[in-house]
Amino acid sequence: MGSTESLGVGIIGLGVVGGGIIDILNDRRDYFKSVRGIDLTVQKIAVRDVSKPRSAGVSSDLLTQNARDVIDHPDVQIVIEVMGGLDPAREYVLAALESGKDVVTANKALLAEHGDELFEAASTHNAGLAFEASVCGGIPIVRSIAQGLPANHVTSLFGILNGTTNYILTKMTDEGGNYADILKQAQDLGYAEADPTMDVDGTDAVQKLSILCRLAFGHSIPYRKMLCEGIEQVSPIDIVFARDLGYTIKLLGIAKPQSGGLEARVHPALVPTDTLLANIKNEFNAIEIVGNAAGPQVYTGKGAGASPTASAVVSDLLYQAELRIAGRQRINRQLVDVEAAEPLATEDIETSYYCRFTVQDTPGVLAHIANIFATHNISIARVIQEDRSETEGGSVPLIMTTHDAREKSMSAAREEIDALDVVTEASQIIRIERLND
Ligand code: NAP
Ligand code: HSE
Repeated sequence: MGSTESLGVGIIGLGVVGGGIIDILNDRRDYFKSVRGIDLTVQKIAVRDVSKPRSAGVSSDLLTQNARDVIDHPDVQIVIEVMGGLDPAREYVLAALESGKDVVTANKALLAEHGDELFEAASTHNAGLAFEASVCGGIPIVRSIAQGLPANHVTSLFGILNGTTNYILTKMTDEGGNYADILKQAQDLGYAEADPTMDVDGTDAVQKLSILCRLAFGHSIPYRKMLCEGIEQVSPIDIVFARDLGYTIKLLGIAKPQSGGLEARVHPALVPTDTLLANIKNEFNAIEIVGNAAGPQVYTGKGAGASPTASAVVSDLLYQAELRIAGRQRINRQLVDVEAAEPLATEDIETSYYCRFTVQDTPGVLAHIANIFATHNISIARVIQEDRSETEGGSVPLIMTTHDAREKSMSAAREEIDALDVVTEASQIIRIERLND
């Protein structure tokens, strides 16, 4: 057997992900030692409240309420940040990097908000900043793009990037059921963020998309400038109409270079039911990425939950440990040398649309709406009009899909249509994405 190197690990946070990391380290420590020649010992763990009951795998001697006990511990060379949030996580990560320690984090909010500063700090202090778990949980997508696709210009990226919303949409599609009850299940299963609004309003997915844009396109784009819509407005009736039209509704992250800039957006979308992404269910995530040399590739796996996320954290931990022992540069310059950019303006996006209008069932309504679309150069692809007997109160849903149109035209048409006397509710418009199939 070759020699074994010992490294000390500190952890900040011992919740869903932190607990999963302890379980995996307990399970794999001997293997890492014997086969990889690295002995990883947890020296200190910071939590918010030391009096909380913890799992049997954690000795109370390891716990502290002061994160500086972890960062400043003389035997800790790698700090794992799995507490979440922006502050004080930013302060802790910076302090660790400034003292030359490597950091492994699952915190996509932190990287999306302060990535420029943190990657620069890692580079300045020759420290590592690894973040596999921050995007798509257990899928090794960061390593796949960084190590596997540097030979490529990425021409498009479509992703189901949030496990909680995919779980909710899957249950609503396959089983029906109440939105609030399903969200509660996702929280109980450990998929949701501390504040689940971040999941359902698309913030978590758009933060992940901004990290992917840095990796895949070399662009640092503030995630707040990207189009971001969540799933709150997706109603069961839209799921049913989408199915009748041959589509499944998914929350998608999309990034595509266009002549006017990088298109980067997150929103619910109708995707053809026979595509791979339409069939990614529950907490699973998937990313379909096209490289000019490699062609199309799809990565899928569990995007949330204790074990998948901890699997990604521990893979980073081992990789950083190997780089440190080998004395190699521990930060990938590709993450530092990025171009500050703005996303393509929303009004310039071009796609097709699913529209649900709630209208009085009177003669001429369809012609009226079709006229407005024609004025805005929007071509109608399909129409479904529900039978009058199916609804109460004289209003009926009128479903239309369109061919590709500019977002600017669709917004203007929608405004005019919603102002018609015969339209009794605000319209529902969901983009249709044909993906690369
Ligand atoms: P969590 O269950 O809420 O755990 C947070 C942990 O951080 C708790 O142990 C808490 O201590 C500790 N903590 C909070 N504030 C602290 C402070 N000021 N000092 C020291 N410790 C503090 O969260 P989680 O689900 O594990 O998520 C952690 C991170 O992983 C987040 O950035 C999240 O976005 C990311 N992530 C989560 C998943 C997932 O599936 N859950 C997947 C990918 C990425 P107490 O235990 O004492 O309260
Ligand atoms: N809340 C996140 C999700 C966790 O549901 O995808 C994984 O990042």
